[in-house]
Amino acid sequence: MSGHGTPIPMTSRPCGPLKGEANVPGDKSISHRSLILGAMAVGKSHITGLLLGEDVLDTAKAMRAFGATVTDHGHGEWTVEGVGVGGFAEPEGVIDCGNSGTGVRLIMGAMATSPITATFTGDASLNGRPMGRVTDPLALFGTQSVGRKGGRLPMTLVGAADPVPVRYVVPVPSAQVKSAVLLAGLNAPGQTVVIEKEATRDHTERMLAGFGATITVEQTDEGRVITLTGQPELKPQTIVVPRDPSSAAFPVCAAIITPGSDVLVPNIGLNPTRAGLFTTLQEMGADLTYENLREEGGEPVADLRAKFSPNLKGIAVPPARAASMIDEYPVLSVVASFAQGVTDMQGVKELRVKESDRIDAMAKGLRAAGVTVEEGDDWWRVTGLGHGNVAGGVTVASVLDHRIAMAFMVMGMASQKPMTVDDGSPIATSFPIFEKLMGDLGAQLVRNTA
Ligand code: S3P
Repeated sequence: MSGHGTPIPMTSRPCGPLKGEANVPGDKSISHRSLILGAMAVGKSHITGLLLGEDVLDTAKAMRAFGATVTDHGHGEWTVEGVGVGGFAEPEGVIDCGNSGTGVRLIMGAMATSPITATFTGDASLNGRPMGRVTDPLALFGTQSVGRKGGRLPMTLVGAADPVPVRYVVPVPSAQVKSAVLLAGLNAPGQTVVIEKEATRDHTERMLAGFGATITVEQTDEGRVITLTGQPELKPQTIVVPRDPSSAAFPVCAAIITPGSDVLVPNIGLNPTRAGLFTTLQEMGADLTYENLREEGGEPVADLRAKFSPNLKGIAVPPARAASMIDEYPVLSVVASFAQGVTDMQGVKELRVKESDRIDAMAKGLRAAGVTVEEGDDWWRVTGLGHGNVAGGVTVASVLDHRIAMAFMVMGMASQKPMTVDDGSPIATSFPIFEKLMGDLGAQLVRNTA
């Protein structure tokens, strides 16, 4: 089992205003998909702005293990020479996806309909996460799998030699499951149909179309019906990875709760399947504006300006919005702590099976810092204390979860006393420049190394 090496305790001290420009890294979801689809195309794809986080680097390594030529040209410029749909080679070693659920689940889908066998593992967080949600639909194609109890990694998949197309209604709102089925459908003859009741991030659909696959999306009474025609020849692409709205969430929320702040976060993709947090913050009374709203590569993009917002109020976050901000609830719960009144978050069961049980991890840390949190299986409620009233002054566990670590670092910027996480090393999975970027804005983050 891999891990993150030596834990790095990290402290965030209350700081003065955050000011300046925050150039956050490339989108994690799109970075994974660029490498995987590039590896399934015939010819050389060019990628710029790739996220250089550990999660994505693990996917790059995996694509090499399956036979693609993946080259790092420096500064986020990469090329991928693909082997074509159905062209994956059998990897010689175990595929270690580190901390990344997206990496392992999408790669399982991509190899599931080729006549090869591969064994997958990850770190302690990933090896505790459910994989049955992916291997169940893959079994319909003819893929076999054997893993640990409860469908946990390490796990071996034997790809289907004669795959059949599948019609699958995704039982949980998960872009990873949807994407795994679509990637498996690429090498099945005929049409694979995936139906999702609630829309989740649609990068796979958009990118498959970009790579030349025949794919249609229809909104029906059953939900979003996605139909993919199998066995296309995917054409290599030039991909400019947009900046990650899920990473932008941290400087945006930090500015909103830290007195006197004014931060510009340029070039953020505002795909509606990802932008739910920003709508929620505006509803809470945050001074958050979109500047220079434009369209790039078929996606809405804007520069976000976030300013200190003295009159935040708690709200009920509509459950229908959950999928579009699923990774942002940890940092939203921090903002909610600085608001007046209750922030109610319903329909968020998926938070319990992320890199950690995010409701549990945040509730424990917020309570330790003086905030009242109530929770149930698929909901939680934070009672805000208002600006200046959040105590902080505690060390909390980041439980191998980057977003938990960053959320508590944001909290420390505006609480009365510093916040410490026992291990900030997971931050490198998605936002390796977090400390430098936040430090340049005026945050006081320190590593407590002996
Ligand atoms: C992702 C989908 C989401 C999200 C994850 C990235 C993706 O997971 O939490 O960070 O890139 O498809 P689920 O599919 O489990 O909701």
